[in-house]
Amino acid sequence: MKPRIIIFAAAAFIVGALAAFVAINLTGKASGPVVSQVSGKALIGGPFTLTDHTGKTVTEKDFAGGFTLVYFGFTYCPDVCPTELQIMTAALEQLGDKAEKVTPVFISVDPKRDTVEQMASYVTNFHKRLVGLTGTPEQVKAAAKAYRVYYAEVKDETSSAGYTVDHSSIVFLMGPKGDYLAHFSHGTSPQKMAEGIAKHL
Ligand code: NI
Repeated sequence: MKPRIIIFAAAAFIVGALAAFVAINLTGKASGPVVSQVSGKALIGGPFTLTDHTGKTVTEKDFAGGFTLVYFGFTYCPDVCPTELQIMTAALEQLGDKAEKVTPVFISVDPKRDTVEQMASYVTNFHKRLVGLTGTPEQVKAAAKAYRVYYAEVKDETSSAGYTVDHSSIVFLMGPKGDYLAHFSHGTSPQKMAEGIAKHL
């Protein structure tokens, strides 16, 4: 493409993105752009079958009746995942006793390396009730698809495995029926996350 065309395409994209952003914020409540909320049914969540960090097979039904705070990532992630899992932990700690209704859940997008044993050791770094879930590549793919989470293996020569995993970094709050309630974009503070969760409890 000629440079001028590229610039025009880029400008059109930016205008479109801004329009979408404004539209989202106009339809949302008074909340800022950091904590997004959607009323009505969003197509996030759904059935899954995975294995928890104790080796037990679990499905979405095992979490029915309680709230879940769900995050997809992988244990070899250098900083994005540990940061977000620490924020989830801090948010739940801020909620005090109310947090007992909420189960934090970490779903692996790297099932090759994230064995049950690896998950069991990793979850001890974070909230004491954090549930680590992994599975076959197909099971993980289905779970990520249900939550509309993007992930992809990419080459990484600095990793001993030769790859890392790119993934979206979004925390989902799901209700007692497995219904989507809210999501928190990467970088949301523990305070904001705690407030966003408390609204739904
Ligand atoms: Ni990560």
